[in-house]
Formats: sequence, C-alpha cells, structure tokens
Amino acid sequence: MKNILVTGGCGFIGANFVRYLLKESDFKGRIVNVDKLTYAGNRENLADIETDFQDQYVFIKADICDGARIDGIFDDYSIDTVCHFAAESHVDRSIVKPDAFIQTNIVGTFNLLESARSRQKQMIRFHHISTDEVYGSLGREGYFTETTPYQPNSPYSASKASSDHLVRAFHKTYGLPITISNCSNNYGPYQFPEKLIPLIILNALDGKSLPIYGDGRNVRDWLYVRDHCTAIWTIMKNGKTGETYNIGGDSEMENIAIVEIICDILDEKNRLSDNRPRKDLITFVDDRPGHDRRYAIDFTKLNKELNWSPEATLETGIRDTIQWYLDNRKWVDRVKSGEYQAWIKTHYK
Ligand code: NAD
Ligand code: DAU
Repeated sequence: MKNILVTGGCGFIGANFVRYLLKESDFKGRIVNVDKLTYAGNRENLADIETDFQDQYVFIKADICDGARIDGIFDDYSIDTVCHFAAESHVDRSIVKPDAFIQTNIVGTFNLLESARSRQKQMIRFHHISTDEVYGSLGREGYFTETTPYQPNSPYSASKASSDHLVRAFHKTYGLPITISNCSNNYGPYQFPEKLIPLIILNALDGKSLPIYGDGRNVRDWLYVRDHCTAIWTIMKNGKTGETYNIGGDSEMENIAIVEIICDILDEKNRLSDNRPRKDLITFVDDRPGHDRRYAIDFTKLNKELNWSPEATLETGIRDTIQWYLDNRKWVDRVKSGEYQAWIKTHYK
C-alpha cells in the first residue's frame, strides 16, 4: 500500500485514523485525504499533520459524488488503496432530511467503486467503513455477527446497507479486492458535538439540559475511536479479501447510565456554580422515530482470525474523552459557531 485514498478524513473517525496511520502505525506511504468539508468535516482536525507530514499527506477538497473529479484523483496520485469513511453519519439528520444520505452514502460510494474498478490491476485493497446499524435492532439477548441478516431501520442505516451491498457486489461480480467493517458507536476526540457523548459532555459542562430520547433504556456498544483505528488497519493489512469483519468495544450500556457516568465524572472535577448535581439536568424528551432498541457486536471473527481486541475500557475511554473536550473548548466553539469557515479562509489558501 503506497498511496491510500482516505475519504472523509476531516471527520471524526477519519481524522483519528489519519493521525493513527501517520503517527503510530507502520505505514510508510502517502495518504490522500479527500473531503467535501461538510458541517462535520474540519480541516483544522489535521492542521498539525499538514505541517508535520508534508511528504506523506495531501488534502484535497472534493465531493465523492463528483465522479469525474474522483477519477482524476485516482490518476493524479496513483491510488492503490482506498479507505472509505466519507458519509453523512447522523441518524437524526437522516430522519429530517434524507437526501444527502442517499447521494453521498450510496452514489458517492458507487463512484469510488467505479474509479477503483477501472484501475483494478493497481488496486490492492478497497476498505469500506460501515456500521452495526445495518443489522437492525436486538432484543435483550443476542449479538450481531457477520451473518446476521440486514434489517436497517433509518434512512441513514438503509443508505449504509445499500453501500455495503454495492461494495460486496463489486467483489463478487468484478473481483475488486474489498473488505468491509461494521462497527458499533464510536466516541473520543474530534467527534462533532451532535452525537450523544460529546453533546452530553458539553451541555453538562455548561449546566444545560441533557436530552434523553424515550425512556433512556436503549443500549449501545461503545467503541473508543483509537481502538476502531487499530482494527481498521489490522483488517486492511491482514483481512481476507471479500470478507466482512464486525468491530465492537465490549462495552454495552444503556443511554441513561452513560449520561449518569458523564455527570458524575464532571461533578467530581468541578461542581456547577449552584452546587446542583448534574444528573438534575437530565430531561426525558420525545423518542427518535424508529429508534433501535439495542446494538451489541460479536467480534469473535476479528479476534480469532486477526488477533484484534479493544484496549480501552468505557471507564478509561470516557475519562480521556471528557478531558479532551475540556482541553479543546476553542475547537468546540469554532465547529459549533460556523466560525470555522472564517478560520479556514485565513489559515489556508
Ligand atoms: P463524520 O460525520 O464525523 O465525518 C464524515 C466526513 O465525511 C466529514 O469530514 C465530511 O466532510 C465528509 N463528507 C461527507 N460527505 C462527503 C462527500 N460527499 N464527499 C466527500 N466527503 C464527504 O462521520 P464519522 O462519525 O467520522 O463516521 C465515519 C464513517 O464511519 C461513516 O461512514 C460512518 O457511517 C461510519 N461509522 C461511524 C460510527 C460512529 O459512531 N461515528 C459508527 C459506525 C460507523
Ligand atoms: O452504531 C453505530 C452508529 O452510531 C453509527 O453508524 C452512526 O454514524 C453514529 O451516529 C451512531 O448512531 P446512534 O444513533 O447510535 O448515535 P447517537 O449518538 O446519535 O445516539 C446514541 C444513542 O443516544 C441513541 O440511542 C439515541 C440517544 N440519544 C442521542 C442524542 C443525540 C439521546 O438519547 N439523546 C440525544 O440527544
């Protein structure tokens, strides 16, 4: 793997992955990061990488829905590997307005597959990042495995399921050397503060209400983002072509419980000015339409075949994440205020 095209590298997981690959892994080649810079993509997330890894890192602002542009990038940078993160990723947004999810997640993925297919001889690996949400919802018992039938319930998960099927089909039909990973809920540094954990951390810090959908008993499996990055790199290097691997954090928890943990840790660090416990800020709000009850991942295949397991526990991961948000309030203010757009104009030509 000499020239990896990373899509969506300015988003939450993509930025962590680029950082991991260049600073911690054994990868010695070049990363070409293609990102449209939607509200969720921040070039600032990798500003230090642009400076420190000029020989190994290139950023290109482009939309994966623009097939001709993507094709040109494959040629210009002799792309031999793809790691595809770019997507519209927020379930609530997909419920309000699904259009961009269909375009980016399905049509964008198709464009990348077509560019890779037309240069198949030089392609070493096309790795597609997907989600456990494609499997639908579990009851109290059981786990998603790689053979669980797809049953997506939101426009987001349906668009991701569709892209998974396209990737798989390009392997079966054309022999494209693909792998797919389906993982659980990520958390950690650089997550846009619309998702549960950063939203709760920031609202709790500011003494604002903490919205819990429905009865708060929905269960998610939490995967620390660095563990996700090590899993992806393991699969890209050693995964079997054509295969799917589930990635989990071994950290199932009800939403209400994780919110209470965040409240307790923040209270321990510093109390609100009126000395109220932050748990008093919890507010039960209307449920998400079609809200999946429980996700839980069985990652035995990845563990047994490729010897991967997560390092972080929920306790260490949450503490590190809270500390990151405490240390990076300016980043939060910029991504939330839209000031980021002005910042980028003054920092980059
Ligand atoms: P994110 O929303 O933080 O980042 C998405 C990135 O893609 C942004 O940088 C955005 O600018 C870019 N992008 C969006 N549309 C684009 C387009 N048309 N062309 C080029 N770039 C575009 O998402 P994330 O949380 O980092 O998720 C990354 C991937 O991982 C997604 O495919 C998502 O479905 C998957 N995933 C995420 C989680 C999670 O918990 N966050 C869990 C499982 C799977
Ligand atoms: O499981 C993997 C998926 O995890 C990824 O594919 C998605 O890209 C990612 O966004 C995430 O989806 P979720 O819908 O599970 O994540 P979210 O952070 O939006 O919500 C987590 C849980 O918390 C879910 O049960 C809804 C609930 N929730 C969320 C928000 C934003 C609340 O109760 N209140 C909130 O304000």
